[in-house]
Amino acid sequence: MAYLYILCMYYLIWITSANASLSTIGNVYYNMSYNSTGTIITRLTVKYQITCAAQCANLFANCNTAVFDSLTIPQSTPSLYRWNVTGITVAGASSGSGGTADNLLSRPYGTALGSFDSLYIADFNNHRIQKWLINESNGTTVAGLSNGTAGASSIALNLPTSVVLDSNDNMYFTDRDNHRVVDWANGASSGSTIAGITGIAGSTNNTFYGPCGIARDSSTGTLYIADTYNHRIMQYLSNASSGTVVAGGNGLGTGITQLALLIANAQTNNIVRWVLGASSWTLVIGSPTGLSGNTSTLLSQPIGITLDPMGNIYVADSQNHRIQFFFAGQSNGTTIAGVTSSPGISQHKLNAPCWVIVDNQLNLYVSDTANNRVQFFSHS
Ligand SMILES: *[C@@H]1O[C@H](CO)[C@@H](O)[C@H](O)[C@H]1NC(C)=O
Ligand SMILES: *[C@@H]1O[C@H](CO)[C@@H](O)[C@H](O)[C@H]1NC(C)=O
Ligand SMILES: *[C@@H]1O[C@H](CO)[C@@H](O)[C@H](O)[C@H]1NC(C)=O
Ligand SMILES: *[C@@H]1O[C@H](CO)[C@@H](O)[C@H](O)[C@H]1NC(C)=O
Ligand SMILES: *[C@@H]1O[C@H](CO)[C@@H](O)[C@H](O)[C@H]1NC(C)=O
Ligand SMILES: *[C@@H]1O[C@H](CO)[C@@H](O)[C@H](O)[C@H]1NC(C)=O
Ligand SMILES: *[C@@H]1O[C@H](CO)[C@@H](O)[C@H](O)[C@H]1NC(C)=O
Ligand SMILES: *[C@@H]1O[C@H](CO)[C@@H](O)[C@H](O)[C@H]1NC(C)=O
Ligand SMILES: *[C@@H]1O[C@H](CO)[C@@H](O)[C@H](O)[C@H]1NC(C)=O
Ligand SMILES: *[C@@H]1O[C@H](CO)[C@@H](O)[C@H](O)[C@H]1NC(C)=O
Repeated sequence: MAYLYILCMYYLIWITSANASLSTIGNVYYNMSYNSTGTIITRLTVKYQITCAAQCANLFANCNTAVFDSLTIPQSTPSLYRWNVTGITVAGASSGSGGTADNLLSRPYGTALGSFDSLYIADFNNHRIQKWLINESNGTTVAGLSNGTAGASSIALNLPTSVVLDSNDNMYFTDRDNHRVVDWANGASSGSTIAGITGIAGSTNNTFYGPCGIARDSSTGTLYIADTYNHRIMQYLSNASSGTVVAGGNGLGTGITQLALLIANAQTNNIVRWVLGASSWTLVIGSPTGLSGNTSTLLSQPIGITLDPMGNIYVADSQNHRIQFFFAGQSNGTTIAGVTSSPGISQHKLNAPCWVIVDNQLNLYVSDTANNRVQFFSHS
């Protein structure tokens, strides 16, 4: 009896039969979900093909032809965390050229994944939001003016910084130098201001001063906005035109517990956790005193931050020109993209990366901001 096997990452799948061969076809992918008690379940799925002679027909149905099936194997988590260190440019020019043409970007910041393999990009210096289908060579403007002109009307933007989407790909984004947050419906030719007075900075509950980051709770539609120069995080309930201060600033939201925000403090080189309803933060990553550095426990101007379903943290450590990965609960990180303290244009380097997101297969999309491109690092 022959033992045939395929090596799937760290697992061997044994087939015990004669004259059979087995090969993987299609993608090997990970699926993460929660069981009913909230434990994260990870599985590796591999689609395989068995071909074998008549002798083993009793082992496999339809054996004389080919059998295509998927095998799902429980996966221990540590082996999940590996990425290809060579990136692929998925938006903008790999050469780093910036510009307003459809195939270019200029200082991309926030990104978000939409339906049908689309990537939405806050094309900061071009004052527009671009939608880029994966593997397409060109993007299309979905908010702002496609020619890259700044403005303060309902069709123009001034330094949009980050964007989030709802399940219908309606956009919510910060329009930084217009000091407003905009709601722009999918396919619409203009947006409406949720809050802020266009072009005028303010510090009341319905105004902003240079809003940058935005996050959305998909279950309630609540928006959280980093009101940068007011040093506070504002919460806007769905459809509300006025918000409450939930972190920083002077006031505190009340009555909400157990919901925590992770906040990247670029100027103090750290990541903090602020439980809504609490009166202060706790340090998660970086220096408590604001010290910057390039060791595995320090950061230098972290801007973008994202979490995966297991609670691991990914940080765009912009001035260290790298993406740092931190296991949930740990503050000692590993560089998974870019080279520490070594900015560059090659496909394994980054230059001032400002944003990182992960898709449901843990692939990374990195806004390689000073290189005017978005890089993809496949999870392996
Ligand atoms: C991932 O697992 C969940 C729960 O078991 C299941 O509902 C979902 O269909 C799976 N996704 C894929 C792509 O297999
Ligand atoms: C969820 O997974 C954990 C860890 O494997 C297990 O102990 C627990 O019994 C599971 N809960 C259910 C309802 O299956
Ligand atoms: C990593 O990505 C590069 C660029 O796409 C590709 O050429 C290479 O084969 C990949 N390496 C692995 C181990 O998948
Ligand atoms: C992409 O954009 C470039 C620059 O505007 C243009 O020359 C090219 O024709 C476009 N390609 C496609 C496929 O639209
Ligand atoms: C993009 O292209 C790569 C390689 O060319 C391919 O493996 C991948 O499936 C494509 N993705 C989509 C969404 O078409
Ligand atoms: C950009 O497009 C807008 C709207 O079409 C137009 O008003 C403006 O003049 C254009 N700017 C440049 C520099 O072409
Ligand atoms: C917000 O407005 C939309 C459109 O009017 C509506 O469908 C939705 O239910 C509203 N959400 C809340 C929480 O009121
Ligand atoms: C602004 O929000 C705070 C809570 O964040 C609240 O205490 C205050 O009354 C609000 N001010 C106005 C004018 O609504
Ligand atoms: C961080 O992890 C590295 C690699 O495991 C180890 O060498 C180093 O001592 C750790 N640093 C701290 C401060 O724990
Ligand atoms: C960290 O930065 C120092 C300069 O501040 C540099 O000499 C050193 O090479 C950097 N470390 C790494 C790992 O690049």
